[in-house]
Amino acid sequence: KKFMKIAIDGPAGAGKSTVAKAVAEKTGFYYLDSGKIYRACTWVLVNNQLHMSDLDKLLHQLHSGNLEIVQQGQEGVTVYFENHKLDDELRTPQINDLVSTIASQPKIREYVTSVLRHFSCHHNVVMDGRDIGTVVFPDADVKIYLTADQRIRAQRRVEELKTSGILSTVDEVEKSIVKRDFQDQTRTHSPLQIADDAVVINSTYLSVQEVVEKVIRLISHAN
Ligand code: C5P
Repeated sequence: KKFMKIAIDGPAGAGKSTVAKAVAEKTGFYYLDSGKIYRACTWVLVNNQLHMSDLDKLLHQLHSGNLEIVQQGQEGVTVYFENHKLDDELRTPQINDLVSTIASQPKIREYVTSVLRHFSCHHNVVMDGRDIGTVVFPDADVKIYLTADQRIRAQRRVEELKTSGILSTVDEVEKSIVKRDFQDQTRTHSPLQIADDAVVINSTYLSVQEVVEKVIRLISHAN
């Protein structure tokens, strides 16, 4: 049996995870946030007090340690490393600052890509990230490139952070996402780019609902 793969790529704060979650709910597909796995790798680095120069040690930790991805309904997954539940600790400013540098390393990308592919072997999946339609699943059934004006993306992120009790300014958040986008778009190894066969959705003037409907329509046409 062939399983369907829906890829949603785009810059930081474009609403990928919100849309992917809603699409997963409507379709019953599993949702995997690939950024979470890059964040988990970064957490392992920080938690072991390793530095960027200790990349080999980090890879050793990742390959010898136990990274578990546990499905939680259509809400997405919870990631465990060595039985340590990784949740809010993946979203700290420290992880935000380091993750793109870690994600630029080819050996880290190789590791994460194999984790992502393995997860998707036996399920229909919606996956969001930066290289899902280009590298992880070049044969995805539907590829979306979701974007929005950077100011809007920063504003939405600030609202989202507020709901988890984190107060930040739009300027501050805009600066951080612009920096991360630049790093993600200019890296040599699988940079963020629009796949040739991706449908570009600019959500600046669209509601979540409208974006989700567009994606669902594309999925039913691909079926
Ligand atoms: O999506 P999220 O903001 O959690 O991703 C965190 C970081 O992980 C991104 O800025 C990017 O550097 C990296 N990433 C990636 N490829 C993916 C998903 C995330 O390089 N498919």
